[in-house]
Amino acid sequence: MSNASLVIANWKMNGNRALTRTMSEVLRDNQADFNGVKVVICPPFTLLAEMAGHIYYDEIALGAQNVSEHESGAHTGEISVAMLQELGVEYVLLGHSERRAEQQESDQVVAAKAAAVTQAGLTAVVCVGEDKSQREADKTWSVIKAQLENSLASLSAKQMARVVVAYEPVWAIGTGETASPAQAQEVHAKIRGWLVENYQQVGAKVPLLYGGSVKANNAESLFSEADINGGLIGGASLKGDEFSAICRAAKG
Ligand code: PGA
Repeated sequence: MSNASLVIANWKMNGNRALTRTMSEVLRDNQADFNGVKVVICPPFTLLAEMAGHIYYDEIALGAQNVSEHESGAHTGEISVAMLQELGVEYVLLGHSERRAEQQESDQVVAAKAAAVTQAGLTAVVCVGEDKSQREADKTWSVIKAQLENSLASLSAKQMARVVVAYEPVWAIGTGETASPAQAQEVHAKIRGWLVENYQQVGAKVPLLYGGSVKANNAESLFSEADINGGLIGGASLKGDEFSAICRAAKG
């Protein structure tokens, strides 16, 4: 049985206008198969407006891959929460490991962005995860706990109700090496425990997504784990049939 109800597509720096159209058509044609599962598409900024034009169903929502922590002003090249909101964006990915590594995005910056996003009423999808050397040194939980403490710092319970946490072990992203369902569940259970300890009933309801080489052939076993409430999908979200199959697995 699936415990999942949210699947988010992270296109990263991929896709074009044609993909927004074909993806929306595939999702529309298969929608009955994953009725009740919320599906979020996060294309690059330049495709958000195009994608918005193709979204027909309440179950399919628009997400962005990043946002500025600033409200407006002299921040060349940045995009604000209000700009995303105007396009109908409902979800924003924050603290993806690629941004943490390539843009040196710190927990403190992620926290400021999470505050801005949730304050505006959008949902912040905050990504956490250990790298290979941290796992091998048995530091997985201490790394993730610190990321949670620092990336979610100072959010009120009301803001926390607009947070999704995505556990993405860095060693599993784009590598084809997925965490086993048991490995993922072990971390998810600890994240759930931390959320409940700090945010009680609100923390009990925060959706927890697993990400890292989720494919059509492993989604079902991951989604059947008790604390895995869905997936954050990279490579497999660029292929309509594969992505639909993952959405179907979430419905169970
Ligand atoms: P992947 O990426 O599915 O290609 O491993 C996941 C992610 O980075 O969100």
